[in-house]
Order: sequence, then structure tokens, then C-alpha cells
Amino acid sequence: MKIIFIGDIVGSPGREAVERYLPRLKRKYSPDVVIANGENAAAGRGITKRIFDDLLRTGVDVVTMGNHTWDHKEIYDFIDETDYLIRPANFSDEAPGKGMTTITKNNVTLSVINLHGRTFLPPHGDPFAKATELIEEAQKSSPLVFVDFHAEATSEKIAMGWHLNGRASVVVGTHTHVQTADERILPDGTAYITDVGMTGPYDEILGMKKEDVIYRFQTNLPVRFEVPKKGRDQLNGLFVELDDATGKALHVERIMINEDRPFEV
Ligand SMILES: [Fe+2]
Ligand SMILES: [Fe+2]
Repeated sequence: MKIIFIGDIVGSPGREAVERYLPRLKRKYSPDVVIANGENAAAGRGITKRIFDDLLRTGVDVVTMGNHTWDHKEIYDFIDETDYLIRPANFSDEAPGKGMTTITKNNVTLSVINLHGRTFLPPHGDPFAKATELIEEAQKSSPLVFVDFHAEATSEKIAMGWHLNGRASVVVGTHTHVQTADERILPDGTAYITDVGMTGPYDEILGMKKEDVIYRFQTNLPVRFEVPKKGRDQLNGLFVELDDATGKALHVERIMINEDRPFEV
């Protein structure tokens, strides 16, 4: 099975970048499944039903979330109606939605798990124990397991990679919006990257208007960050190929598309 993962889609520039580049990525990589992190898809905060539906129409199969999951209250109304939008599994048991889903494409089944870090982030449940619990459940239906670990600290993400080495097929980090260059296949067959990076504005700060972010750093005064509508954009992602019989990663490749690194087929 071939999978493309797209890092945190930020606002309309992020959604437009997916629309523009995903068809070309599909021609180049022929993925069976496309997964995207959508926690910032609605103007940088959360996701709406319309945006979720648009992402599916654009060719995304499963959307994962993160710390911005509940920013748009609308998600409460539809997260339980779809199998293809998941939120971190180690959120409270009271939280709507679910943290794992399965998708079958071309006769191969993949489980997708979303987890949330808790270093420099709110104190959710233990993501390491939750990962073990869910992977044991997932492996009853297929050895192919994809994990999006939405976390701040590089160390926590690397720890998750090693924790799941040989048990998950893929562990990707999201949330920092800056791609790391450490993609690799761990010794027992788990494809890993500390952070996939973001998809959206290229000349701003993590997707938010840079003037506002600089002002806040200088003054410590409250400023509402906004996603600029105009400007150059970027798409960051990861391509992985898995062995359908064992779930082990065969190939991993970082995707970074921007004005300085144009897309090449
Ligand atoms: Fe994000
Ligand atoms: Fe985040």
C-alpha cells in the first residue's frame, strides 16, 4: 500500500495548495490512501463540515486533528457521523468522535490512529499506553497501522517512534508546522519523521501573518493571529510504501514543495 500524508493544512491557502498539488502528487506517487492533518483547515483554527467535505472531494481519504480539534464548535455536530475524521485518541473519554479508524483500498486495510503529545501541551491521557492499546486492536484486522502523533517536543515524538518501532507501519509527527529532515525506516520496519511540516502560507510564521506574530513576541500583548489570504504557499508531506503482508515500511520519502523547491514529476 502506498500512502501520502499531508501536514497541517492551514486556512484557505493550505486548502488551495492541496487542490493544486494533490492531483500532481497522485500522478507521481499513485497513492492508495491520502491522509491529511486538518486541525488548522478553517482559517487556522479547527475544521467545518464544508471544509471537511471539500477535502474529501479534493482526494483526501482520512483527516486527522490535534490541539485545535474543538476550535470550531460545528465539529461537535458531525464528527460522530463520519468514519474519516478522527481526533486524538487520548482525549477524554467524554470527548465526541474517535481516535482510530480503518480504511480499505484496493483490498488492503489500513488503520489510522491520531494521538496527542502532553509535553508543553495540555495534560491529556498517556499517548504511549493508548498507542499500545489501539495497535493491539488494529492488528486484529490488519498489520498496516498509521499513526499521526500531534506533539510539540521533538523528544516526545522520537520516543513515540521508538516505542512503536516494529508495531506501527508509520509514525509521523505533526503540530510544529516545520518539517524535519530525519525521515527514516526504524530497524524493525516503522517509517518515521519527527514532523511533516505544514501546508499553507510560505512567507509567514507557522501559517499566521508574520507582522502580528512579531508584534506579540516584542510586546507580549494579546493579538489575534490571522491566516493571510494572499501570498506564496507551500505543501509539506510524506510518501510511504508498505508491505501489504507484513505492514513493514519499504520506502519513505519527504515531500516539500514551495517556491524555492518547485514540484518535480
Ligand atoms: Fe497545526
Ligand atoms: Fe497543533
